[in-house]
Amino acid sequence: MARRVAVANNKGGVGKTTTTVRLAEALAKAGRRVLVVDLDPQGNASRRLGWAFTPEAPQLTISEAIQADQDGVAAQVIQPIGWDAEYASRIALCPARLELENRMAEAGVAGAWRRLAKALDGADGHFDYTLIDCPPSLFHLTQLAMAAADRVLVVTEPEYDSVEAAVRVRDFIAERARDLANPDLQLVGVIINAMQNLASHTDQRDSVRNIFGGLVWEPIVRHRSLLVDADGDELPLTEVRGEKATEVRGAYELLAQQFVKAMPA
Ligand SMILES: Nc1ncnc2c1ncn2[C@@H]1O[C@H](COP(=O)(O)OP(=O)(O)OP(=O)(O)O)[C@@H](O)[C@H]1O
Ligand SMILES: [Mg+2]
Repeated sequence: MARRVAVANNKGGVGKTTTTVRLAEALAKAGRRVLVVDLDPQGNASRRLGWAFTPEAPQLTISEAIQADQDGVAAQVIQPIGWDAEYASRIALCPARLELENRMAEAGVAGAWRRLAKALDGADGHFDYTLIDCPPSLFHLTQLAMAAADRVLVVTEPEYDSVEAAVRVRDFIAERARDLANPDLQLVGVIINAMQNLASHTDQRDSVRNIFGGLVWEPIVRHRSLLVDADGDELPLTEVRGEKATEVRGAYELLAQQFVKAMPA
């Protein structure tokens, strides 16, 4: 069975999706097979991986798999990504669209929080890792991810509200993992993203290290506009030129090595 990691923070725009996509890329480059589950109705991970909805031949998405409430049903929604890179064949996607919001209405249905775990059981066995890109909330969709995951990876910017939100994720796991029938769930790491040369960022970086100690992964990802461009243009990082691109690729390669070490198969 694939080792499953939910990528989360209770704050929007901190780089959860960027981290999910770039870690998937670096893991695939290193020969690993990765399933990306887009669990955000914004569908950002799906688009950034080059996937597009085609109304004339509508594809199934993770929303239908969750709604179905059946073991292994996610196998029916796994699709190739749209990148033109040699390693892209080692990344597959359970895409999301706005319709995923409809699953929120099931939050009060008995056992509904187990539906993603059920959908993935028997569906992701041929991958090394399943990365689940969460929305910025801690409500039903993220709880589906936490019920399905082995570990949670937190992404935070070195900014006060983002760090507080990261702490809320940690505390939520401590309080609720048992309620999600996943008592062994725990944080696997904290990635600091979009660091700039600002005194406030240095202070918050130190604060993250104080709070999370050895869980903080290295290196810190710098604020680099090429990541916005690559995300915007749906490109793998191998298609981005320049010295800064080499730095960013190198950072994700090192983070992928930490990931593999922290999540032995
Ligand atoms: N290290 C970085 N340097 C510069 N821009 C970045 C960096 N990481 C992410 N971004 C950009 O910041 C924006 C927000 O990132 P992203 O969408 O990954 O955040 P998110 O946490 O997934 O947001 P949401 O909560 O809406 O899902 C995007 O435009 C992304 O390209
Ligand atoms: Mg996102």
